[in-house]
Amino acid sequence: MRKGYDSGASPLYGALKAQDALPLSAALKAEANYQPTLDEIPFNVYFDPDYAAREQAAVWSRCWQFVCREEDIPDVGDRYTYDVGDLSYIVIRSGAEEFKALRNSCLHRGTRLCNGISAGDEIKCPFHGWRWGVDGAVKRIPGKWDFPQVDARYALPQARLERWEGCIFINPDQDATPLKEALGVLPEHFAHFSLAHRYTLVKTAKKIRANWKTVWAAFLEAYHVEETHWDAAPFTGDANTQYDCFRTGATVISRLITPQAVPSPYLKDVSARQGAINMAKSFIGAFAAADLELPDTSADNFGRTDVAAWWRVALGGLLGKDLSGVSDCEMLDSIQYAMFPNFGPWLGEGLPLMYQFLPLGDNPNESLFVVRLLAPLPDDGTIPPAAPMTYLDFDEPFSSIEAWGRVAPVFDQDMENLPLVQQGMRAFSPEFPNLTLGRYQEQRIAHMHEFIEAQIAQLTAQQVAQ
Ligand code: FES
Ligand SMILES: [Fe+2]
Repeated sequence: MRKGYDSGASPLYGALKAQDALPLSAALKAEANYQPTLDEIPFNVYFDPDYAAREQAAVWSRCWQFVCREEDIPDVGDRYTYDVGDLSYIVIRSGAEEFKALRNSCLHRGTRLCNGISAGDEIKCPFHGWRWGVDGAVKRIPGKWDFPQVDARYALPQARLERWEGCIFINPDQDATPLKEALGVLPEHFAHFSLAHRYTLVKTAKKIRANWKTVWAAFLEAYHVEETHWDAAPFTGDANTQYDCFRTGATVISRLITPQAVPSPYLKDVSARQGAINMAKSFIGAFAAADLELPDTSADNFGRTDVAAWWRVALGGLLGKDLSGVSDCEMLDSIQYAMFPNFGPWLGEGLPLMYQFLPLGDNPNESLFVVRLLAPLPDDGTIPPAAPMTYLDFDEPFSSIEAWGRVAPVFDQDMENLPLVQQGMRAFSPEFPNLTLGRYQEQRIAHMHEFIEAQIAQLTAQQVAQ
C-alpha cells in the first residue's frame, strides 16, 4: 500500500524526522503495527436511531470514556456533569485526591440533580429536596417518616472511575477491565509529554448538527486540508501526513502526524523556504501572541528547523517554560491520537489540543464537540486556574472566542462542512450505500468503525450466551 505522496519541497514524514535538530521521543520513533481492514461502512450508521441505540448500549454503557480534567473541579464538592446520550453522571471531587462518578438521577422520582459545572457540600434534588453528600451517601430525606423503605442503600449509584495524567475517565460497566488496558500505547507514548503537568488554558463545548462519528471522522485525516483548509495548505503537509495504528492486546490506538512548516506536496509552486515562512506567520496569533516578532527569514535555506528554533524560544518565553529539549517535530507538527470512543489527546508543543466527541441526547444527527488547549505548567511552580468552559450553540463560530486565536478559523472551516456531511449521508444513493475510504489516509475512520462493531459484537455475544 502506498503511504503518502511527497514532493521535493515536502518529503514523507520519515525524511522530515531524519532532519530533526534534536533527538526524537520514543513516540515519534514508534511505528504502526496494525492496519484496519473494515471495508463496508454503511452511511446509515451515522443517522439510524436503532444503530445509535446499539452504540448507547454497547459503547457508551460499556467503555472507558473521557469525562474532564482534574483541574476542572479543583475543590472538594466541585462537580462536572457528564451527559452522553441519555446517560448522565455527576463526576465529583469527593476528597482532596478522590473522585466519584454518581448517577445524575434522583432516587425518589428521578429528577436530574446537577447541570454543567457546579459546586457545594451536598447534592440536593430541586424537586423535593432529597440530599446526598459529596461521596454519594444519602444525607437527608425531607419527611423521612413517610419513607421507611429508604436507608443507607440509597447512596447514588456509581460508575467506575479512573484517572490518567490529570484526565478523568469513567466506565458504567462494573465488570470492565481496568482503564490501563483501554489506554493501549498512550502511557508509553506520552511518558515524556506529561499531560498531568499541563493545564487547561482554553475549553469550549460546541453543539454540532452532525453525528458524533461524523465529527470524529473529520478530525481523523488530513486529506481534507487541500479543499477545506486551503489557506493552511501552504504550510501543512497533507498528503505526506503519517497515519499509524498501534495494537497492544485487543486495544488499538490510532494517530496522525501532519507535518507543518512545509507546504502541501500538491502545491508545486510553494518552496520549502516559503512553507517555513508561512508557518512562522501562522504562529503569530497563537496564544494571543499578536505582538511577537517574526524570525529573520532572509536565508535561502530557511526551513523547518529554523522555525522550530525560533518558536522554541518565543513560545517558551510566553509560557514561562524551558522548551530547549523539544524536537522540531514536537515544536511544529500536529500529532493527534485517538482512543475511541471519545478521547483525542494531542502530543507536542505545536498544537497541544485535547478532543472529546459525544452524542447529544438521543438525536443521532447532533453531537457535542469539547475541545481544550492544554498549556504546560510554568517552570516557576505556579498552577494557573483552569479556564472556564465556554459554550457555542449550533450556529456560533469558534471565531467568536478570542482565546482560540489562529485555530478558530480552522475549526470554523470544519464546522461548516459537518452539517452538510450529515445531510448528504442521509440522502445517500442506494447504488452506493457505503462510505468510500482512502486505504491509507482514512484508515483511522475504518478503525473507529471496527472499534464500534467489535463492541456491538461483544455485547450481542454476551446476550446470546445468557
Ligand atoms: S424527585 Fe428528587 S426529591 Fe423528589
Ligand atoms: Fe479540519
